[in-house]
Amino acid sequence: MKIGVIGLGYVGLPLARLFATKYSVVGFDINTTRISQLQNGSDVTLEVSDEVLQAVTKKENTSSVGLYCTNKLAALEECDYYIITVPTPVDKNNRPVLTPLIKASETVGAVLKKGDIVVYESTVYPGATEEECIPVLEKVSGLVFNQDFYAGYSPERINPGDKEHTVEKILKVTSGSTPEIGEKVDELYKSVIIAGTHLAPTIKVAEAAKVIENSQRDINIAFVNELAKIFNLMDINTHDVLEAAGTKWNFLPFKPGLVGGHCIGVDPYYLAQKAQEFGYNPEIILAGRRMNDSMGEYVASEVVKLMIKRDIRIKNASILVLGITFKENCPDVRNTKAVDVISSLKEYGVNVTIYDPWANVEEVLHEYNLISVKELPKEKFDAVVLTVSHNEFKELDFSSLKKENSLIYDVKNILAEEISDKIL
Ligand SMILES: NC(=O)c1ccc[n+]([C@@H]2O[C@H](COP(=O)([O-])OP(=O)(O)OC[C@H]3O[C@@H](n4cnc5c(N)ncnc54)[C@H](O)[C@@H]3O)[C@@H](O)[C@H]2O)c1
Repeated sequence: MKIGVIGLGYVGLPLARLFATKYSVVGFDINTTRISQLQNGSDVTLEVSDEVLQAVTKKENTSSVGLYCTNKLAALEECDYYIITVPTPVDKNNRPVLTPLIKASETVGAVLKKGDIVVYESTVYPGATEEECIPVLEKVSGLVFNQDFYAGYSPERINPGDKEHTVEKILKVTSGSTPEIGEKVDELYKSVIIAGTHLAPTIKVAEAAKVIENSQRDINIAFVNELAKIFNLMDINTHDVLEAAGTKWNFLPFKPGLVGGHCIGVDPYYLAQKAQEFGYNPEIILAGRRMNDSMGEYVASEVVKLMIKRDIRIKNASILVLGITFKENCPDVRNTKAVDVISSLKEYGVNVTIYDPWANVEEVLHEYNLISVKELPKEKFDAVVLTVSHNEFKELDFSSLKKENSLIYDVKNILAEEISDKIL
């Protein structure tokens, strides 16, 4: 049996690597740089260590166990299962962009044979697999769905940078286009996922389950972000309140913060758009999105207010922003909300220096037109804003970064009370 994994990013590579411990796997990606890096045994996303990757990679597309990475369509021809793990972003108006999914379906459609099963893993709205992707597979292959070929949906739950909850240790939801195919897809995943699987009754149920997991998280964080705004007005420490409330057995432990990345801040828009197509305007889901998207500007305004209270001149003040990735201890800068803090600060006329030991400097420049540095700057600043809780920041000597009157704003509340002047 041969498995093709289409899209070797944060989701696809760890999955392809895992399957490659038991099966012959072809990893396909259109990004030629990514393919040559993987062929050389290196994963720049840092999700799979070089050692673990090199233990499974093979140089030839053979039928033996292992992972063969390629950008050549022909290499996918002999697969029995195709697993699609391409991005599902939103556009600047927060509308779902299905182009990568459609393109990947065209790729698979071109090599699809009778009896094959195509499993989608990308996060989508309920109905996307059967309504958007399957017609493309049918059209390009000339085959008939649920007669000649079949489909499944199995959402991914990994968390970039998390070395504890790796793909094989997270229970996986599976589904199939018929009950028998559901069983087959479930068996396939069960053979590698140590944590086990949950076979959902339909593809739509599995799609909906994934998108609400992330929407629920988004809404819960939006609630505590609102609490932070309220308690800051009242001069009450939000984290102390959450700690006290958290002693109740059913109080959920969420913290205020910037909600970035391409999952939690994006997926609710997929559900919202589909709901709107059905004539329902989601109120809570979109209110959560608005709240969380407002936090970058809020943090900047809080920093500036504090500087004014301290008589620090705002125009041309120097501010050091610690962290530009979307989350701690990972190099992923996609949809990072640290950028919102930075652009809002710049609107006040301050000069911002960005220090992030994890972020790729070229990627930050390319994606956001911002200059970041990987070395701790030597100069002193009027304010320091900690936006990401990278481990390196916990060890910093903050006195070396501060001018006499300057302040430290800790968005993540990771610094000792005597170090930070204000937290979110
Ligand atoms: N990153 C996560 O933690 C995470 C967690 C759960 C779910 N997801 C979902 O999984 C999906 C993939 O996310 P990701 O973070 O791995 O994305 P990614 O950007 O890291 O990787 C996607 C890869 O797909 C490739 N690609 C794009 N179009 C292609 C095509 N037509 N054919 C072949 N390859 C193509 C890209 O070159 C890239 O290497 C998304 O739907 C995302 O929402 C991501």
